[in-house]
Formats: sequence, C-alpha cells, structure tokens
Amino acid sequence: MENEPLLMIPGPVPIPQRVRAAMTRQAINHRGPEFGAAYADTVRVLKTLFGTESDLYIISGSGSAGMEAAVANFGRDKRIVSLVNGKFGERFAKIGARYGTVTALESEWGTPLDLAALEQELEAGAEIVTMVHNETSAGIKNPAPEVGKLARKYDALFVMDGITSIGGDEVLMDKWGVDVAVVGSQKCLAAPAGLAAIAIGERAWDRICDKRPFYLDLAAYKKSGSSTPMETPYTPAVPLFLALHEACKMIEEEGIAARIARHRRMAESVRAAAKAWGVELFPKIDEHHAYSNTATAMRIPDGVTDKDLRGTVKKFGIEIAGGQDHLKGKIFRIGTMGSVGAQEILATLAAVQFALRKSGFAAGDGLEAAAEVLLG
Ligand SMILES: Cc1ncc(COP(=O)(O)O)c(C=O)c1O
Repeated sequence: MENEPLLMIPGPVPIPQRVRAAMTRQAINHRGPEFGAAYADTVRVLKTLFGTESDLYIISGSGSAGMEAAVANFGRDKRIVSLVNGKFGERFAKIGARYGTVTALESEWGTPLDLAALEQELEAGAEIVTMVHNETSAGIKNPAPEVGKLARKYDALFVMDGITSIGGDEVLMDKWGVDVAVVGSQKCLAAPAGLAAIAIGERAWDRICDKRPFYLDLAAYKKSGSSTPMETPYTPAVPLFLALHEACKMIEEEGIAARIARHRRMAESVRAAAKAWGVELFPKIDEHHAYSNTATAMRIPDGVTDKDLRGTVKKFGIEIAGGQDHLKGKIFRIGTMGSVGAQEILATLAAVQFALRKSGFAAGDGLEAAAEVLLG
C-alpha cells in the first residue's frame, strides 16, 4: 500500500497510477508524429467533454492561464460584464479589468447570480459575459444555459470557466451558446496540474482582437494546431500532455455518461452525509442554480474550529479544503472530482464525522446516509 495523503480537496485530485506513469518516460520531440498524435487524440476526447465541435487547444499553464487567454484574446478594450458569486468569478473580473472595462455583477458568495441585472447590462451594450460554471469556492453551480441564451439574444460573447465542471459534470458548450470555455487538468480530468484546455467557437473567432498577447495568442495556437503533425506554438509541457492523454483514455474507457453519473452520486452522498450530520450546506440555490456536483461546501458548525476539523481529518491522512478569503474558518469543502469513488468518500466522511463529534458537535450518522446513496 502506498502511504500517500488522500487529497479530497477541489483539485488537485489524486492521479491514477497509469496517468503518473505516462509522464515519467523519456523525452519525445514535440514537433514529431508521436506528440502530434497524442495531442490530437487528447483534443478529440476533450471536445466530447466540452460538448463542442469547435476548435480546442491545450495551453501549458494552469486553469487561470486559460481564463486569461480567453479574456486577452477576445476582451481587449471591450465592455465586459462579469458574473461574480465566488472567488473565481472575482478572478475573472480582475483579469477582465487588465484588458477591458469590467462591470462586475456581484452576489454574495454562494448565492444566485443576478440574471435580471445581466440582461440590463447586455441591453446597455456589454460585449462579453464571463461566468464561472462551477464556483468551487462556494460549491454552487451557475446557470450556463440561461446565460448563454441571454448572451446570444444581445449578440455578446459568452466566456465560461468550466475548470471544475468539464469532465465531471454535464457541459454542452455548443448547445448552451458558450463561445469560449476553459478546463484545468488537475480537476475532474484527474491529470496532473499545469495544463488548461480552451475551446473557441466560430462567433468568437470572428471577433478575435487584433492586439493579442504573445504567449497566449490563440491565433498562434490555431495555426500550429492545424499543422500535421498537430503542434503547439511553443515548447509544450510534454510530460503533462502525455499524462493528460492517458487520463483521457481512462475517461473514454469509463464513458462520459457514467463518469458524470459517478460525480453526481459522489456529491449527492456528501450532501446526504451533511444532512444526517446536521451540517448546513453553504450555497443558497434557486430554480436556476444548483449544488455543485464536484465540490461540496458546508458551514463549520458553531463550537467547531476549522483547525480542529481539518486537523483531525488530516491525522488520518486525508486532506479536505477550508474556505477561501472571507470564508476562511467559516466553511469546509470536500472535493469529489476525478477518479475517486466510494472508498475514498467513505473514508473521508468517516474522518469528518469523527472530527465533528470529537469537537463536541453531536453529528448524526452521515456514513449510513452516504453509503445508501453510493450503493444507488
Ligand atoms: C472554478 C475555478 N476557476 C479557476 C481556478 C483556477 O485554476 P488554477 O488554479 O488551475 O489556475 C480554479 C481553481 O481552483 C477553479 O476552481
């Protein structure tokens, strides 16, 4: 048995052995046929996870590099409206402000986005909408189809962060009217950290800015991506590409529908445990919003400290996440992304339940509730 910490944070997630092995091999030429074939095959699988037939490229950089690529290529000097109900929505607004003029429509973290205010901004001439599909910091899933519809109605581009939804939850980029979408390798894809994939639809290509960044110039990615063998403009993180390719093979073997169903079941089991414990889920959802299927955010009960809760869980070799920024000490988060399953979830929930009770909180039996859900 490998005695490694079990990462149940919302990314990075545990990497299957096959995927780890793929990045330890001897170097290959990044302008040769083997790399080109691996890149092309990875793109083919990723397109199915994005729900798109549009162009898709892989950037050597984390998810934020993908977010910046989207804004820098399509948002320079544009009127951007950023929907914000958590840390990553805020990040999108901050990136937008470096390139264009941003109106941030802010809701409390973990509460619904203001779609009426969005429509007003679009009516008033906003050209780009940014939204985080799965707001990991608060455990809320935002309404991509509704926002896509509004963006189309007013002829704006819709740029979506799918960093913690794509590969774990249903994303239908083309159907929903998403023009640019981004995923990160270390989340639901269960690959190592360090790559972002970005898909770009026709409407976005038609509006690409003349003044673009150099390293993240998506027109350059398109040019190199059209060559045979398929290439990237600059030397890519080859070992990470090979690992991501292996991760995509595993995703195909599982099947997308099965993978999404597994993610939903895992998150549902955590929510069932929370209910049985008497622990409040953090997000406030409405008919347009949902609980995240990849990261569950819960309030830390009165009388329990973040330090004790996560500290006790860590003593069992399991890491869960705390809150970010003003939510530090107020919430804890369990990631259910990638290749983890019932074994990891039951161990995590057992450790959390023990930690809650040890801190004096009279938690009910969450394990029983979660196990019922996991068995289906
Ligand atoms: C929704 C979301 N967007 C963006 C990011 C940033 O990604 P990265 O840390 O890979 O740059 C994260 C990371 O947790 C995320 O969860």
